[in-house]
Amino acid sequence: MSHLFSPIKIKSIEFKNRIVVSPMCQYSSVDGFANNWHLVHLGSRAVGGAGLVITEAAAVSPEGRITFADLGIYKDEHIAKLKEITTFIENHGAVAGIQLAHAGRKASHTEPWNGGKQLQSTDDNGWETFAPSAIPFSSSETAPTELDKAGIAKVITDFKAATVRSIAAGFKVIELHGAHGYLINEFLSPHSNKRTDEYGGSFENRIRLLLEIIYAVNEVWPADYPMFVRLSTTEWTEGAWTIDDSVALAKILKEKGVDLVDCSTGGNVAGAQIPLKPGYQVEFAEAIKKNADILTGAVGLITEAKQADEIIQNGLADLVIMAREFLRDPHFPLRAAHELGQEVKWPVQYERAKW
Ligand SMILES: Cc1cc2nc3c(=O)[nH]c(=O)nc-3n(C[C@H](O)[C@H](O)[C@H](O)COP(=O)(O)O)c2cc1C
Repeated sequence: MSHLFSPIKIKSIEFKNRIVVSPMCQYSSVDGFANNWHLVHLGSRAVGGAGLVITEAAAVSPEGRITFADLGIYKDEHIAKLKEITTFIENHGAVAGIQLAHAGRKASHTEPWNGGKQLQSTDDNGWETFAPSAIPFSSSETAPTELDKAGIAKVITDFKAATVRSIAAGFKVIELHGAHGYLINEFLSPHSNKRTDEYGGSFENRIRLLLEIIYAVNEVWPADYPMFVRLSTTEWTEGAWTIDDSVALAKILKEKGVDLVDCSTGGNVAGAQIPLKPGYQVEFAEAIKKNADILTGAVGLITEAKQADEIIQNGLADLVIMAREFLRDPHFPLRAAHELGQEVKWPVQYERAKW
């Protein structure tokens, strides 16, 4: 059997292979609601053979959305359509996961195809943004408001309430978005967190918000369902968050019941130089797996079956998480199975097209 198609069980959940659809914002919601776009987008990739399909960043509060068109899970009314989607995904043999997120200072922007520009709180579809410190992402942007203690408590409560809704919606994997310069990442990084209270300063203080969110989520998330955390494992910037910080954090996350670190990078330091090349972030998944003894997911410019298979075969990561290749080809896993000489079950409706 190919390594990519070997099953894996995390807590009580079985994944038929190691291929994961990475969270990808669709900016196609009204007031956070999923709709048929999300059903078709996520559903197609389950039909295409992925083992785990993770939704785009689902905002835990309206002010935690990147744009006014983000997916959300901040209202009970959001549950029904999400439940339809998770049911479809499961009926096609994949596990449904949700990424819970708060965009912090990167909230209140326009969609990428409308420039991805910051909207002021006085603009239509704009609102006041919050972050650990009143420091804008880039010099051209307005500074966010520093979260006070009540604001931090609300963020934690929002993540917990979103988790309760995620369970009701049928998700079996939860991923906390701690990467790409959004709120949790902003707290982790000394580049964006200049607080002088117990949420800033030392490493222990900067990781406090994430640990408090995990504690609150764990109070409601079933103990036998997997929890992932996505990290920007390096910020590619001197004096900012480093891979050593990520290894140290991953050891603590493991103790707190987190099952897997989804190893991304960057997004919190404007202008950071990222050395893009195929599989450019795999080394961070490997470093965390080996040094923190926790499961990891590798992501970033993984586009080919052999490349993905070798990541698993060589023990560099436990899951291969893919984004843009899945936009090019929702059936990547079916194609990869063919290329690797692996027999997999096709949807019966598509069997006549089998290679
Ligand atoms: C359209 C699009 C939307 C994305 N939205 C999210 C998101 O909601 N959450 C997230 O953690 N990463 C997001 N990402 C990043 C991807 O999950 C992934 O980490 C990145 O694209 C690198 O993987 P790739 O080279 O396979 O595309 C997005 C990427 C794309 C292309």
